[in-house]
Amino acid sequence: MTTHRISPALDDQARAILKGNDRGGYTVPTDGLYPYQWNWDSAFAAWGFSTFDLDRAWTELETLFSAQWDDGMVPHIIFHKPDPGYFPGPEVWGTNKTPATSGISQPPVAATMARLILEVDPVAGRERIAALWPRILAWHRWWRDYRCGSGVVAITHPWESGRDNCPDWDIGMAGVDGSNVGEYTRRDTGHVDPSMRPGKDEYDRYLAMVQFGRACGWDQREIVANGPFLMEDPGITFILTRANDDLAAMGRELGHDVSEIEGWAADLRAAAPKLWNPETRGFDARDLRTGRFADRIGSAAFLAYLAGVETPELAARMDGIWNAVRYGFPSADPAAESFEPRRYWRGPSWPVVNALMAIGLKDRGLDDAAERLRRETAELIEAHGFFEYFDPTDGTPCGGDAFTWTAAIWLTWAGADGPAKGGA
Ligand code: DGY
Repeated sequence: MTTHRISPALDDQARAILKGNDRGGYTVPTDGLYPYQWNWDSAFAAWGFSTFDLDRAWTELETLFSAQWDDGMVPHIIFHKPDPGYFPGPEVWGTNKTPATSGISQPPVAATMARLILEVDPVAGRERIAALWPRILAWHRWWRDYRCGSGVVAITHPWESGRDNCPDWDIGMAGVDGSNVGEYTRRDTGHVDPSMRPGKDEYDRYLAMVQFGRACGWDQREIVANGPFLMEDPGITFILTRANDDLAAMGRELGHDVSEIEGWAADLRAAAPKLWNPETRGFDARDLRTGRFADRIGSAAFLAYLAGVETPELAARMDGIWNAVRYGFPSADPAAESFEPRRYWRGPSWPVVNALMAIGLKDRGLDDAAERLRRETAELIEAHGFFEYFDPTDGTPCGGDAFTWTAAIWLTWAGADGPAKGGA
């Protein structure tokens, strides 16, 4: 069925952004601010490319997985070419990989995106997914082996969550000593308004975690056992649960035995209730160094829909949080003191998270909520363009412009509002 595109002109702009951010086999999130390949950005970019260039979509994922470490980890940044405009660059991470990479990972959305891309043309995609599948499996096994010790997924750096400075991590960040990281010059605040970015205190601590990883040669067991930061992340837990389902579904089609992957998904689902915080009446992050909940609720809790582990109480919380803002789902609770509607992950609405949440809502039969989310996201993009994130209270565009994943989300999800009138 053909769908009705809201604006062919915006479709053209979105395609132009993807092509403009294409550096040959991989896409930068946006020129200047993020000059390398980022893991989950890239998976969304691939989904975007699949609307007009399937071959290029698969290439994006292949390039991402070409930087996979021997232990299965897929790094959060791949430094394909030197670029002095970004800090911390490869010399700070010191991972000694070729190509140079960071030393942490990022939300494993690749299997879910690969499945969506495969659905566009299962025949054309069969060879591509057949080659990628064992690599994605190895990555999911890495999460299971190194990060699921408590039953759900733990992260060792807030950047790993993809939701860098969201209030979920404040409690774990408080335990990190950032006082000895030495002098450095940030580059991000030269590209965008510093009031929309994390503060210096946070950056000092981010760097302390990088320095710990580097000092132990990026030894995962050591980082998990003794690193400065270890927190359970509801966001990655739900994303990985869903990604395991998608990996298993593709594996079945390819004729693989997927019982091990089904077991991983079942174990994550069985452990999900331990993230339920009765105080916040939502799924919450927990600091594994102290055993304490963050006592926060934000968009990650609602990715429970993606994993099919939502509860009636969570549904009730969703309306309250959503209705407190105007545009899309806020990354953090508008009623909390920590809410900052324009500062990165401390409140803004992110088209990419709205899209993930909508996939979950739709799967659970909550079509009206999914459609509301799509409509509000589309309004933001129509009014302001393809920014990285937006103030959910008044729609002010924030962060980087001409952003790859916002363009991708427009082409795949936000930019169509139902069946074509009188169309095919
Ligand atoms: C940044 O540089 O802000 C990135 O989010 C880290 O991955």
